[in-house]
Amino acid sequence: MDQLALKAIERIAGPQRAPYHSITVDRLTPVIGAEISGVDLSRPLQTQQLTEIRRAFLENHVLVFRDQHLSVEQHKAFGRMFGELRALALEDIDGDDPELVVIRANAQSRFVAGETWHTDGTADLAPSLGSMLYVKETPAIGCGGDTLFANMHLALDMLSPAMQAFLGSLTAIHDGEIPWKGYTPPPGLPKSEHPVVVRHPETGRPTLFVNSGFTSHIVQLSAGESQALLNLLFDLVAREPVLSCRVRWAPNTLVFWDNRCTQHHAVWDYFPHSRYGERVTILGTRPMA
Ligand code: SIN
Repeated sequence: MDQLALKAIERIAGPQRAPYHSITVDRLTPVIGAEISGVDLSRPLQTQQLTEIRRAFLENHVLVFRDQHLSVEQHKAFGRMFGELRALALEDIDGDDPELVVIRANAQSRFVAGETWHTDGTADLAPSLGSMLYVKETPAIGCGGDTLFANMHLALDMLSPAMQAFLGSLTAIHDGEIPWKGYTPPPGLPKSEHPVVVRHPETGRPTLFVNSGFTSHIVQLSAGESQALLNLLFDLVAREPVLSCRVRWAPNTLVFWDNRCTQHHAVWDYFPHSRYGERVTILGTRPMA
């Protein structure tokens, strides 16, 4: 690994973090992800627990809560502690609750949600703050269906200062039709222009904000230049395992991830077995350069 990358990792992994008092935080890797224990999300949270969960979220970007027994209302109530929930049109979802996206795969599935690296909903003018997926059923084979999450602050930080400065001058189009390639997209899907490098609205840290799930092209470049640059940026997450953590699900696991600074990839390695989960998405703000 080159010196730039090592320095970038050191900036994240090096500093000692303040201790937690009302929850237990076990980091999954030095750069992304943590398991949170000592909290029951079906019960009202103490103020200090919520404050520490917020801090753990900003420090680790992906939080894993195991052995949670939640009704749909309790799942949504936890989501609402971080903001308003995104409601989808009923014709666009599997189920009858506009705020709850069913994530389902079985022997009849021909694709599953999120099986490429992506960030949820970046085609929206104000993409989401984060998503909370509550998995109730994991493959009967006893393994498979893990989700990978990548730290996009670190992805940016590992690039040379010259490349970072160039990316900072660019904007990209995020197109809601991209996930529908090969199918007829429903009408009215969003398409938005966002800076390629944005600031996290809570921490102020810069992050790389393009993803192969939704980003179609870079506005200021020719088609060939745009594709070459996007390929380089998309490849970062695939090429650098140091950017990511891998969450192994068990039934009744809830994972809360930050869509402002991460990408994720749901691994479909369990066909023809089934996996079932329910996701709520918390509304965010317009990304700023
Ligand atoms: C998603 O992209 O939100 C689905 C993630 C998963 O199924 O693990």
